[in-house]
Amino acid sequence: MNRSEARSRIESLKTEIKRLNYQYFTLDRNEFSEEVRDSLKKELVRLESEFPGLVTPDSPTQRVGSALSGRFKKVAHITPKKSLADVFSSEEIVEWSERVTKFLPNEKMTFIAEPKMDGLNITVHYEKGKLIRALTRGNGVEGEDVTHTVRTIESLPLELEMPIGLEASGEVFLSKESFEHINLEQEKNEKPLFANPRNAAAGSVRQLDPAVSASRNLNIFFYELGRNTLKDLPSTQEQVLKTFHALGLPINPTYKVFSSIDDVVKFCGEWGAKREKLAFEIDGIVLKINEKSAQEKLGFTAKTPRWAVAYKFAPKQATTHVLDIIVQVGRTGALTPVAVLDPVFVAGSTVSRATLHNEDDLERKDVRVGDTVVIQKAGDVIPEVVEVMKNLRTGVEKKFHFPKKCPACGGAVEKPEGEAITRCVNSGCFAQEREHFIHFVSKHAFDIEGLGEKVVSGLVEEGFVSDPADIFSLTSDDFLSLPLFKEKRTSNLLSSIEKSKDVTLSRFIFALGIRHIGEEISQSLARYFTDHYGNGRSASFEMGKLIELMSHVKFEDLDNIDGFGGKVAQSVVEWFSHK
Ligand code: IVH
Repeated sequence: MNRSEARSRIESLKTEIKRLNYQYFTLDRNEFSEEVRDSLKKELVRLESEFPGLVTPDSPTQRVGSALSGRFKKVAHITPKKSLADVFSSEEIVEWSERVTKFLPNEKMTFIAEPKMDGLNITVHYEKGKLIRALTRGNGVEGEDVTHTVRTIESLPLELEMPIGLEASGEVFLSKESFEHINLEQEKNEKPLFANPRNAAAGSVRQLDPAVSASRNLNIFFYELGRNTLKDLPSTQEQVLKTFHALGLPINPTYKVFSSIDDVVKFCGEWGAKREKLAFEIDGIVLKINEKSAQEKLGFTAKTPRWAVAYKFAPKQATTHVLDIIVQVGRTGALTPVAVLDPVFVAGSTVSRATLHNEDDLERKDVRVGDTVVIQKAGDVIPEVVEVMKNLRTGVEKKFHFPKKCPACGGAVEKPEGEAITRCVNSGCFAQEREHFIHFVSKHAFDIEGLGEKVVSGLVEEGFVSDPADIFSLTSDDFLSLPLFKEKRTSNLLSSIEKSKDVTLSRFIFALGIRHIGEEISQSLARYFTDHYGNGRSASFEMGKLIELMSHVKFEDLDNIDGFGGKVAQSVVEWFSHK
């Protein structure tokens, strides 16, 4: 990118980020996820560091976030509020622990892991055991006085179990259920909706009328001890939490203490998988050195403690540029438009392609080459283009025209009335054949190790295989005539082909690549056939016999199996009716 291109990109990024910030902070509304906003900011930071002359004081990268609105009285914090450094991977967790042990090589330390509630930080002050003040984090030095609303949080004691002085911080949050309930109410009253539970919690605390906050079902968990008149000072973070509990302050009981960092990493992974099912949102795990003495020795850098980090779950969304749009031909002839992307790191891996599903979807989202798009990766699902950021268009974006012929074989394509998918109808289409092979040997089918996409393409191109069964009669000479094959690789591959012959019936069915027959249905089918024809003894069936029986199966038989629609039954019967 040259300087003038960078200048105009920086300008549009600034305008868009400011617009999203305004929506988010002032209107408590989100048109795009925060992850999208963060991703745009990252791009802006990158461009500004490449072209430092283009940084202006009004850039969103130059402003230190401060949430002081002027609506509430400002009060100085007793202990200034620091924040935590973020880490995003197992490697970074381990690096942090290595930094700590390097700093204190002779110290015996344990780790404490606390799920990071996604809410807002509140500090409370008690005097002689009585709640006298509650402050937002504000700019870290001064916070807003929100005592009148925080007092309404039912789980927060107005009086402690002991008449002591105490400064303590915690996270105010809302359950997912309360958040949804609040938005229903907002909708009924024709008020703007909150983007997420965190925004709703923040909006509920920063109310002038405590009656509104009281109706919102807010909750708080404490984790940080400030100045206090406790007789017995806790010597670990775990004891801090136990002390809070004894005083009547709510804590998150799901914390855990570890002595090995590998177990900490495992714990973080487990919560990453569990988080969707929780009643409230967490955005990571806070990791701390448990011992207070070690914490004191480790101290702080300019902004953050050395003794703690926040492990953040990978964002599921990011923004990037569409470099090209291509159309792939699948195993069943389906034509799938795919966006070729400027590689971007999201949800733990780099993504350079994302599916656009089908022609209709592509039209509806109006994705063009050159667009800035939001991409999303959730779980094992293939990354997809969610939407286009149309405000970032410059006018040079190119519209994509869906091909009228199969891009692989040039054959005719068909899109039946009412269906979304366009298919190549040439049964000899090279691309379909190739995909069919790749599926046949894939992990959940015959699982032939070493037979990857490239080798399959080579075998099909050279004409060594034209039907998946041909794989089992390949010879070492066939492989040796392919590029990059020598004795060792050839003999390894031949032995994994041999090994793959020992296959379960369900994998075998799945490998056939019958339309609508995924892994689960393959299992049901295998069970049906072994139960009906193999005397229920799946271990002793004779495969050839079963396949023979399967080929005569009737629509009515299959239509009765649980979980089978007519579509599935029809597809199986049709497949076996082909010679
Ligand atoms: S300890 C010296 N523990 O994360 C920093 N913070 O980026 C002390 N948070 O502002 C923070 N759960 O709002 C700590 N168990 C936890 C936390 C936690 C959520 C928030 C808190 C803080 C931010 C730090």
